[in-house]
Amino acid sequence: MCYSIPGKVIAVKAGRAILDYFGERREAHTDTEGVEVGDFVLAQGGIVVETVPDDAAGEILSSWQETFEKLKARDIELSTIKPPSEGVSEDIAAIMERTLKGEELTKNDMLRVLGAENKADTELVTFTANTIRQREQGNSACVHGIIEFSNHCTSDCAYCGIGKSNEELTRYRLSIEEIIKSAEEAVKTKGFKALVLQSGEDAYYTTDKLVEIIASIKERVGVMIALSIGERAIDDYKALYEAGARGLLMRFETSNEELYSTLHNSPLKERLDMIDGLKKIGYLIMTGSLFGLPGQSDENIADDILLTREIAPEMFSSGPFIPHPSTRLGKTGMETFTLDKALRVLALTRLVDKKSSILVTTAFEKFFGVEATRRALLSGGNSMMVNLTPYPYSALYSIYPGKGSASELSKRIEYVITLLMELGRSPSDISVRGAK
Ligand code: 5AD
Repeated sequence: MCYSIPGKVIAVKAGRAILDYFGERREAHTDTEGVEVGDFVLAQGGIVVETVPDDAAGEILSSWQETFEKLKARDIELSTIKPPSEGVSEDIAAIMERTLKGEELTKNDMLRVLGAENKADTELVTFTANTIRQREQGNSACVHGIIEFSNHCTSDCAYCGIGKSNEELTRYRLSIEEIIKSAEEAVKTKGFKALVLQSGEDAYYTTDKLVEIIASIKERVGVMIALSIGERAIDDYKALYEAGARGLLMRFETSNEELYSTLHNSPLKERLDMIDGLKKIGYLIMTGSLFGLPGQSDENIADDILLTREIAPEMFSSGPFIPHPSTRLGKTGMETFTLDKALRVLALTRLVDKKSSILVTTAFEKFFGVEATRRALLSGGNSMMVNLTPYPYSALYSIYPGKGSASELSKRIEYVITLLMELGRSPSDISVRGAK
């Protein structure tokens, strides 16, 4: 699946490399020893993951050039199809115009956009977000693979189906060897270059075990490894970084302290301090929130977006809350949260932070249907994840109901790549914040 194309290093400075992709400049972090000007490298999620020999790079680039140009043209074409102005509210049109000129949205603007129920307004908002995505980020897209290696969890978040109090759930753990093998296979046979290793908060995987897993994967294949394993001691996270992990997926879930404390056993500050500490270690942060939680207001959602921007993550990862019947919130929320509203949340995120990758989550598609992903990619989103957890484990990783199915993985990969390419996106994956 890897459509990763090598970039040519045109400068290296202070752990960052400037890369050239057919004349476009991007920036990526590099701690790979010996990356020099003139080298060809593959970068994923904002990190240089490996160097590519000159002749191999030349071959990939010449076979890609035409496609690359075509994709770019397609993206530009799609992002200039302006929706009809008929029915658009005057104030929404004015807000969008100001945004396009580079003015920052006020909180009131954000609230107005979130509440804009009119279809024509939503279309203009999502169109504007797509225009900004295209202008600021070009057509780059990243596709991460995710391996959910354990559904044991010592936490008990009110919304989450794998919380410890769910006694109906069959629990599983992948062995160290299984995790390493799955990761190696994802890279070697499926072409992934960025993997998220995710689990519940499971102390069975001690720091030593995780170090072994990360180091062994890094030894075998060139890949960017991101972790999503919940809260742990900062020193443990330092050791995991040293072993080779570079990305960290940890949502703050909601920026509202009160709401946070009704859902979790610990205060919001703890989570935010942890994210801050992880960023200081050097991890590239992927964070965000849940929207549609019971008791959550539009103002809370606007604050979530503003907080995510403040954290300045590499990637925004927010998604709809999907009630899970075996949890305390089993039957609440989301009845009135429409796809259009979810798209406005995503579009607002793009309007507020122009430089991050924005993930279109699997939950988004699960909840709103298959067409939702396509629309989200045309509303400011530019990144996707593919679940690589082997079945039946994937079905047992039921953070929300209906997650994980037996449907063939290769079909899913093909679907994601075909969709991205049909929309003119180049899965060359290169980040993001540093994009110049
Ligand atoms: N619906 C949607 N997302 C959920 N998560 C957990 N439970 C649910 C749910 N019911 C998300 C949380 C967590 C991530 C791993 O999964 O945001 O951070």
